[in-house]
Amino acid sequence: MDISDERKTDGGQDKVNARYRLDDFIGRSPKMLAVYKVVAKAAESRATVLIQGETGTGKELIAQAIHYNGPRASSPFLAVDCSTFNEGLLESELFGYVQAAFTGAVEDKKGIFEEADGGTIFLDEIGDIAVPLQAMLLRVLQEHEIRRVGSFESIKVDVRIIAATSKNLENLIQNGTFRSDLYYRLSVINIVLPPLRERKEDILPLAEYFLRKYSAEAEKTVTRLSPQAMELMLRYSWPGNIRELENAIERAVTMTSNSLILPEDIPPSLQEEMVTESSAVDKPMTIEEMQRNYIRQVLNNMKGNKKNAAKKLGIDRKNIYRMLQKRNSSQSD
Ligand SMILES: Nc1ncnc2c1ncn2[C@@H]1O[C@H](COP(=O)(O)OP(=O)(O)OP(=O)(O)O)[C@@H](O)[C@H]1O
Ligand SMILES: [Mg+2]
Repeated sequence: MDISDERKTDGGQDKVNARYRLDDFIGRSPKMLAVYKVVAKAAESRATVLIQGETGTGKELIAQAIHYNGPRASSPFLAVDCSTFNEGLLESELFGYVQAAFTGAVEDKKGIFEEADGGTIFLDEIGDIAVPLQAMLLRVLQEHEIRRVGSFESIKVDVRIIAATSKNLENLIQNGTFRSDLYYRLSVINIVLPPLRERKEDILPLAEYFLRKYSAEAEKTVTRLSPQAMELMLRYSWPGNIRELENAIERAVTMTSNSLILPEDIPPSLQEEMVTESSAVDKPMTIEEMQRNYIRQVLNNMKGNKKNAAKKLGIDRKNIYRMLQKRNSSQSD
């Protein structure tokens, strides 16, 4: 991939693609503003960064922002998903190998560390790497040199590492599957991306952003979400975070045949959760409870005047006292 093609030069001043410019990131919740501050600082340095966050929270985008906003922007950014390789394959992917190191190694091959020299490696799902490989990685971080599989020769590399995980590394350390020394070495700068349900104020701006994006792609003029669709989006828990929101909007844009997104255009999973949620929270009211609510409402309207409320309700004043007392006794049990 030729990364330089991706970047635009803005009058020779701004080398960063708009996609990675922090000012253009969607989401202005306090939690994300705090994240952007750390990202800006991290971009200037070459310190190792650990990004923790649930699936779809934007870990890779943040890693790219750190790379493309810093001095390494014109060098490679290479991503490796550690969860997709077994131990042996990951080792040769990262460090390369020499001819005849193993069956099938017909010639010398550079690994990602050599390919990314001068740039950044993004080690995704770092919690999935095997313990022996963790030891090798620790050595690379300390010595800034690698050894290809099957070779004793050390090769100097200048690579910045950004690691990410959707697993809780502290738990992995507890059960002995992640080295604590590697954890400390990786988390010189620690970024925790909050799930979408903890920054609900970002949901609608993100939804509108994806609405613009996908309606432009589909050459449709879908301009807005109906209030009911907005409410569905705000009440949903978004276990798949921004990626799930993006997919939901893409689907809605495909489904709709007018300029407004309606609840029925939204994936059924959002609506199902609403049903289970509301039936769990709102138990059906008894007639007594409804009566009490109504009396309370009328009393409020009459500014607490029980005589006027009784008149309005068409019942005896004593009955109001009785019913409100009932309310108090049922509240205390
Ligand atoms: N602030 C944001 N503004 C706009 N789009 C965003 C933002 N954050 C993330 N995205 C988009 O959401 C999607 C998921 O982001 P990303 O792939 O970085 O998440 P991730 O944490 O690496 O997810 P996974 O765990 O699934 O690998 C991507 O399409 C990304 O471009
Ligand atoms: Mg990712």
